[in-house]
Amino acid sequence: MKRIEGRVAIITGAARGQGVAEAKIFAEEGAHVVITDILEDEVKEVASQINHAGGTAIALVHDVSIEEDWKRVVQTAVETFGKVDILVNNAGIPSRLNVEEETLEGWERVQAINSRSVFLGMKYTAPEIRKAGGGSIINISSVYGIIGVKGYAAYHASKGAVRTLTKTAAMDFAEDYIRVNSIHPGMIETAMTADLFTDPDIVKWMKEVTPWPRLGKPEDVAYGALFLASDESSFITGSEIVIDGGWIAT
Ligand SMILES: NC(=O)c1ccc[n+]([C@@H]2O[C@H](COP(=O)([O-])OP(=O)(O)OC[C@H]3O[C@@H](n4cnc5c(N)ncnc54)[C@H](O)[C@@H]3O)[C@@H](O)[C@H]2O)c1
Repeated sequence: MKRIEGRVAIITGAARGQGVAEAKIFAEEGAHVVITDILEDEVKEVASQINHAGGTAIALVHDVSIEEDWKRVVQTAVETFGKVDILVNNAGIPSRLNVEEETLEGWERVQAINSRSVFLGMKYTAPEIRKAGGGSIINISSVYGIIGVKGYAAYHASKGAVRTLTKTAAMDFAEDYIRVNSIHPGMIETAMTADLFTDPDIVKWMKEVTPWPRLGKPEDVAYGALFLASDESSFITGSEIVIDGGWIAT
């Protein structure tokens, strides 16, 4: 028996990076995946790869900051697969500006894509997960949602919001058997961080702050999400999993 056999999972930001790893691993473990992104060609290609490999996926264009998009995505998931069991709020954008450098417009955009999206995703998906008899919501925050690092004002605020929003939602939905947890990745090599990985000084710093003798891969996060999506974590809610090679344990 596969670990999430027959479950229906919506995964956002699944055209690249961690979202692709989550989509492929969830499909390999038996889930029907509804993968979404603003990058239409890329997300369709990921769905095609999953279907060719024997999995079941559909791709939808979806801006996670837009309420109407969420209604359409959830409705399409239900029309296509009959229910929703799992939501991974993964889509996000970086911002590397400190408080004085950040503009109000930039601040609002980061909150809309990284944090408002998580609120909207839970708001429109939870009723369907409730109808399915319960399930799991996984919100991708960051170690930057727990600690402070110089020069990331809007990003830290957005990811900190995801961390505590996760905890209050876990209280709200517990009686419906809907678990809500957050994941806090450390430095993971994806398109989001590609430029950082080409800067020798930043790579040196990343290695210094990460006790484990390698940096993170998308699959490291995806397997944490799989655990939280599966019944193996059935008594875990309102919790947070840090996947950072030991960075913030120091
Ligand atoms: N890479 C890291 O080191 C790291 C560390 C901690 C947390 N995270 C978080 O992990 C998540 C995944 O990041 P990643 O590293 O895979 O980044 P990525 O840039 O490779 O992928 C993010 C995906 O989100 C999509 N996206 C952006 N804006 C969107 C929108 N408005 N609507 C829908 N989709 C949108 C992008 O098109 C992209 O496919 C993000 O929430 C990110 O903040 C990443």
